[in-house]
Amino acid sequence: HVGWPGLLSAYREWLPVDDNTPLLSLHEGNTPLVYAAKLSELLENDVYLKLEGANPTGSFKDRGMVLAVAKAKQAGKQTVICASTGNTSASAAAFAVRANMQAVILIPHGYVALGKLAQAVQYGARIVAIRGNFDEALEIVRDVAEPLGMEVVNSINPYRLMGQQTAAFEICDALGTAPHALYIPVGNAGNISAYWMGFEAYAKANKVAYTPKMFGFEAEGAAAIVRNQPIDHPETFATAIRIGKPASWDKAVNAANASGGAIDFVTDDEIAEAYRLIAREGLFAEPASAASVAGLLKRHRGGQLEKGQTLVCVLTGNGLKDPDSAIRLAGDVTEVVDSDKQTVVSLLGKRV
Ligand code: F0G
Repeated sequence: HVGWPGLLSAYREWLPVDDNTPLLSLHEGNTPLVYAAKLSELLENDVYLKLEGANPTGSFKDRGMVLAVAKAKQAGKQTVICASTGNTSASAAAFAVRANMQAVILIPHGYVALGKLAQAVQYGARIVAIRGNFDEALEIVRDVAEPLGMEVVNSINPYRLMGQQTAAFEICDALGTAPHALYIPVGNAGNISAYWMGFEAYAKANKVAYTPKMFGFEAEGAAAIVRNQPIDHPETFATAIRIGKPASWDKAVNAANASGGAIDFVTDDEIAEAYRLIAREGLFAEPASAASVAGLLKRHRGGQLEKGQTLVCVLTGNGLKDPDSAIRLAGDVTEVVDSDKQTVVSLLGKRV
């Protein structure tokens, strides 16, 4: 390989990688931790954004998927299967084809952002759209995988969370310390659980002196954990986290409680506002990702933030995943004119 080797090599000693594990890689991980100057000034804290959309398939899912697919390959499996709101399926499809395996994905019909579907199509996955939501798709996957001889690569597969710990490692490695707090979207609740595992592992190994407070944010219309009851018909325009029965529910609650953090919800309007503020930092994240920044702003408004701390918000997926939301939220701002220099000059009010 050239340059960054990918996660199985870079964090080998922290992962269940042995001599028989194929060193599968799309050179995932090593994502930027970007200082957010405007948010930092507004909130009087040092705010960093972890740009997980810079992963090869455009979301954090690659961190866990590379390990889950490598271990499935090692176990002699030929096909992986998952339910997904779009990112897991894009990642599963990519790593499966890379490993010369098949991918079967179950998605909620009509509720997967266009970019994610486009990826799965191109990577050659078998795509089954169910007339139902993510939670129903996951229930089906749990039941059919074993009889069909397929490996489940949803986050109920323990290798997924093990691999996703690497994001916490990278943040600590980049800062030279743990942040004071981590802000993260919560959907199926795997990622917040994985980060907590990662921070705890680093603290246990004395790589960092303390663990951050973990603040997770569900969408208001899908806030099962906050409301302490499953939601049969979850709703939010942030389709990635349109989930009513999170699989890692207990682990996420433990992460919040044990760290001194919390799980709360943010409204779709708050998500949309944060989505715009992220763009003003020069970054483009998908709507679900903006739930982390929306949560930070909510705590600021509620007077719950201290000052002068180092805070990290995880931007879980690339904005290009969901172009329809971007255009819909901004309105049609394009000014269409004739292909004529004078027209453009008078429109812009300046001499060329
Ligand atoms: N952000 C994005 C962009 C996601 O795609 C997801 C989950 C989350 C946040 C929430 O993470 O589930 O670990 O709490 N997407 C899954 C999928 C459900 O199928 O792609 P979580």
